Amino acid sequence: MGISRRDTLGLALAGTVAAGTARAAPLAASSTADTALVVSTWDFGAAANAAAYAAWKAGGTLIDAVEAGAKVPEADLSNHSVGLGGYPDRDGHVTLDAIIMDDRGHAGAVAGLEGYVHAISVARRVMDRTPHTMLVGEGAAQFAREQGFPSQNLLTPEAEAAWREWLKKAEYKPVANIENQRGTALDHDTIGILARSPDGRLAGACTTSGMAFKLRGRVGDSPQAGCGLLVEPGVGAATATGVGEEVTRIAGAARVVGSMRMGMSAMAACREAVEHIVALRGEAVKDAQVAFLAIDRNGKVGAFSILPGFTYAVTDANGRTRVQPAGSLRRA
Ligand code: GLY
Repeated sequence: MGISRRDTLGLALAGTVAAGTARAAPLAASSTADTALVVSTWDFGAAANAAAYAAWKAGGTLIDAVEAGAKVPEADLSNHSVGLGGYPDRDGHVTLDAIIMDDRGHAGAVAGLEGYVHAISVARRVMDRTPHTMLVGEGAAQFAREQGFPSQNLLTPEAEAAWREWLKKAEYKPVANIENQRGTALDHDTIGILARSPDGRLAGACTTSGMAFKLRGRVGDSPQAGCGLLVEPGVGAATATGVGEEVTRIAGAARVVGSMRMGMSAMAACREAVEHIVALRGEAVKDAQVAFLAIDRNGKVGAFSILPGFTYAVTDANGRTRVQPAGSLRRA
């Protein structure tokens, strides 16, 4: 399944993967992102974009591209919010949530997956080889095993030490924008990655280890279609990051895509969803970070968060990557 390379044949992509990544001023709502090919959340999205772009350049589909991109932070030991090295739940288990989706109604997800680094690949297998859209917990792990994915202990010594330290007080206090403070993550978050071909086809992926030290069984927004990710043909795609409960309450990605469907720009749609959360939740989200990233069918990008500090990576059709600060409702 996924988007066939044939769908985009004849649309040449020039250039190579950018060796370096520039930091840039915020993108205007309509900008040179006309040509955006891959966008993803946070600074670590730059490396993911490079892998996605390379997969695309090698002849892969958009689904191949977003899967390849998502696998980069999943395998990154220094990233404590995704995959291997992710911080565990309150009981010491690293559990992963992921979803992958194309623009033809194909979607696959896993939640609470234990023992397999590449949750995004297991999610893709759910999409490609089952009639279902999500497998959870023990069933997801059984499926991964049956599909031949290698299992391993995902709790690294560093993550275990952080968990044992946390147990001394066992307080849960989300730290905004911790995703960009590498090596110090005490909280969570997520990579959401969206790809668009030159002819306007779309795909997306989202993967996370969720909130650090969460209650066992907790699932956030990331693997839920319409919450952490939504892709809609002819409209656009959106992904979310930050405190998953706040995104899930409003079916955040679906709201952003719905606004784009009604004619809003990607930027205005992301902003509207953030404003809605703040209006709905008031004091409860006073210190919370929630952010949306979206791309429309024409390649226009939008990104907006409650608090300043959310960044996203944009790789254009020439393979050039820039990390951008998003707009935010609150000021620094
Ligand atoms: N946004 C990821 C999570 O809350 O699990």
